Amino acid sequence: MLHRFLLGLSSVCLVAGLFNPLLPSLGDYLLTEKQVQTYFSTGPKNLALGSCNSVPFASAQAGFAAAVGLPPTTTWRDANTLTNATITTIDQGIDQLAAVCGARQQFVQTLGQTYDTCVDRFYLISLGNTDWWNVMQYTHLMKHLELICSTGFDVYQNNIDCIRKGETTDGNQYRACFYKFNATVNANPNNFCGATESFIGCIKDFFTTECNAYVGWMQCELERVGFAYDCYGLAC
Ligand SMILES: *[C@@H]1O[C@H](CO)[C@@H](O)[C@H](O)[C@H]1NC(C)=O
Ligand SMILES: *[C@@H]1O[C@H](CO)[C@@H](O)[C@H](O)[C@H]1NC(C)=O
Repeated sequence: MLHRFLLGLSSVCLVAGLFNPLLPSLGDYLLTEKQVQTYFSTGPKNLALGSCNSVPFASAQAGFAAAVGLPPTTTWRDANTLTNATITTIDQGIDQLAAVCGARQQFVQTLGQTYDTCVDRFYLISLGNTDWWNVMQYTHLMKHLELICSTGFDVYQNNIDCIRKGETTDGNQYRACFYKFNATVNANPNNFCGATESFIGCIKDFFTTECNAYVGWMQCELERVGFAYDCYGLAC
């Protein structure tokens, strides 16, 4: 109880991000809205040419929102709220993580072949009434769930205590990777992908020391998938 209270308190203090190692959120990268648009709009736009039917998308999204305790009226345009609620839910334990993964599975099944387009940033931007921050927050949520609900699941299940320790007791070291990323990006704005490469290496080293090489790889991979569409050739 006290633990959860302290976690909640630290999230409130660090308004820019939640720094949750199970589910990174866009605010963690300390980028401005303008930087988010600049750096995350360079990748291939071909997926956006596919189709996403708004009716099943709305229904799949409502189901996911309900699974993380939000009103079904919560749409993809409320990405901060969705991310926050997902983090709150999975922080309750492995059973809740499994439940979120079940909801994500349902979401994917409802959308079928249209999944990739429905969660594509260029497609979502084209729907209007949103901005790059929201779209990237949503896309990252889905990308990260993809990993933590597949390859990542067993790694989390077996290492949850040391992963948590990376957020709590050793949280300053973990967050240092994000602060260094911010400093690097701002010092050399034209080398975003170089900064990204150093950043994912920082995360890998931190969790390799904190836990083991599996966790180091997994946490690096979790960060890599969020950047891979705009920075080619990143490896963990
Ligand atoms: C995130 O969730 C916490 C706990 O449920 C809540 O207190 C906080 O207001 C939420 N923040 C946002 C931006 O939704
Ligand atoms: C990110 O870096 C910039 C430039 O060095 C700095 O002004 C800003 O305060 C940093 N943001 C955070 C949240 O540390």
